[in-house]
Amino acid sequence: MIRREVLEKLCCPSCRGPELTLGSGRRPDLICSDCDTRYPIIDGIPDLVVPEESLNPGSYRTETLENVIAGVYDFIAPVLSMAIWRCSPLRYIDHENRALGRAQGGVYVEAPVGTGVALAPIVAEHHDALIFGFDKSWNMLFKAKKRLRNIPADFQLIRADYHNLPLKSGVVRSLQSLNGLHGFMNRNAVLAEFHRCLEPQGFFSGSTLVRSQADVADAFVEQYERYGIYPMLRGPEFLLQQVRSTAFEDVHFETHGAVMFFHGKKGADVVDVTRTETDTRAS
Ligand SMILES: C[S@@+](CC[C@H](N)C(=O)[O-])C[C@H]1O[C@@H](n2cnc3c(N)ncnc32)[C@H](O)[C@@H]1O
Ligand SMILES: [Zn+2]
Repeated sequence: MIRREVLEKLCCPSCRGPELTLGSGRRPDLICSDCDTRYPIIDGIPDLVVPEESLNPGSYRTETLENVIAGVYDFIAPVLSMAIWRCSPLRYIDHENRALGRAQGGVYVEAPVGTGVALAPIVAEHHDALIFGFDKSWNMLFKAKKRLRNIPADFQLIRADYHNLPLKSGVVRSLQSLNGLHGFMNRNAVLAEFHRCLEPQGFFSGSTLVRSQADVADAFVEQYERYGIYPMLRGPEFLLQQVRSTAFEDVHFETHGAVMFFHGKKGADVVDVTRTETDTRAS
């Protein structure tokens, strides 16, 4: 059910054990050989989010909201992008195309994948890459699955938290995070996690909403932040500095309206940039 090439790239998100094997029970699951944690597979999508002992109310709220948004995301996202963020949705597709092209037969990661709306239009052209789509929302993943089901590409959707990706270190050639960074609860930790998963000289790219580019957009993100939807939205310089200080090199960016697109790469020498401190709130 889950192919060997896929399993070879995965690790246990609880203990980082390198071996996940398919269980033989009636209900499909993956089992960690080191800590014995069992991860269910639902509709072909492994649930590799670490089982929480006590639910974090903040992340539960975000997840519930994302599940609701999944129903309307494909209609609302392009409208918001044009009318409020002042960025053509085609720019996302273009950026996606370039990021996937950089995988060149290696592993490509989309984190978060959402409903797969940016991936689907271009993915068939890149059938030489092994594509992983990570997201924490089941509804987003089910939408992505439906959208991608008839596309002849080598992809695997996985439920995972981007703060703790169930990937072995250094296995990803190109990692893309579209519309992601402004939503990370702990941006430094997620950037370090992306860095860990990339091969030496692997490519990192993405987009994020930034403040101080367009008045209407600023008014909107103020509301987002007030209601705790996106917690830490900053200007382009602040974000760039965070990306660069995570040991990414050759970082370039461009802004279109309130959307900043960026790309960079991991250095040739592998530096462990794993951090534990939380982002400071600065405006
Ligand atoms: C604005 S959407 C972007 C989706 C896609 N990249 C796009 O541009 O269409 C943000 C996504 O992040 C996901 N997400 C939020 N918190 C997450 C987390 N901690 N781990 C993984 N995904 C998360 C949400 O479920 C949602 O699908
Ligand atoms: Zn384990």
